[in-house]
Amino acid sequence: MNVLIVGGVGGIGQALVSLFHDIGHNVFATYHHTPPPTSYGRWFQCDVTDEACIIELAKVLPKLDIVINCVGILHTDNATPEKTIQSLDVEFFTRNIETNTLPTLLLAKHLQAHLTSKHATYFVALSAKVGSIEDNQLGGWISYRASKAALNMSIKTIAIEWRAKLPRCCVIAFHPGTIDTPLSAPFQPRIPSHQLHQPEWLASKLHQLLNKLEHSDTGQLIDYNGTKLPW
Ligand SMILES: NC(=O)c1ccc[n+]([C@@H]2O[C@H](COP(=O)([O-])OP(=O)(O)OC[C@H]3O[C@@H](n4cnc5c(N)ncnc54)[C@H](OP(=O)(O)O)[C@@H]3O)[C@@H](O)[C@H]2O)c1
Repeated sequence: MNVLIVGGVGGIGQALVSLFHDIGHNVFATYHHTPPPTSYGRWFQCDVTDEACIIELAKVLPKLDIVINCVGILHTDNATPEKTIQSLDVEFFTRNIETNTLPTLLLAKHLQAHLTSKHATYFVALSAKVGSIEDNQLGGWISYRASKAALNMSIKTIAIEWRAKLPRCCVIAFHPGTIDTPLSAPFQPRIPSHQLHQPEWLASKLHQLLNKLEHSDTGQLIDYNGTKLPW
């Protein structure tokens, strides 16, 4: 199987690259600033907010069975998620949409032709339960929440279009839970230890989920236990 991990140097991305390599799949992966730490897999440097970069990537990739987008931001060097609407910052909001929403749309646009296998294919975007409108009881984190809600809508919309065009492709938004990576690091002191999982655990959970998914599951937000979450 040919597997593309987008954002393969991130905490979750790296664990997925290792898992798919270890079980014998052909792994293709992208990195951004940090060079890849592994000697296996075929790596491509790509800023996935840049459409030209994704067009070049699509040209060199073979047909794919699995695409998983692991790119995302929650905080930057200069900004942390907002506690109140008064701390909304235009640049940070735009950066959230650009990094957490746009790349999945660009990947779907330019990799659609790669997902036409006669067997089942999977197009997965790492999302987050905090992007669920129905689940939002706490408020706060408005840029991240809005960008993941927009990602969820993007996934649902792509899934509807591809039901006819790519009838064997399962398109899902995936909530990983809280995983021990640089993205969650500043918030980990507030997380009970039993709720904080390692990337390798999550990679195995996502792999198990892919093995169980039916095409009828397309267009859903699904968590690491395989539970469908409300949008
Ligand atoms: N960790 C969690 O608890 C958690 C919870 C819920 C959802 N998620 C979601 O899971 C996904 C993966 O998160 P993670 O925890 O693995 O985060 P991470 O370790 O911080 O990795 C994120 C990756 O995104 C890459 N990236 C950022 N901007 C990019 C760009 N413009 N082009 C290409 N790559 C770019 C980063 O590369 P550079 O550093 O080189 O820019 C980094 O490798 C994210 O979508 C996140 O929202 C994570």
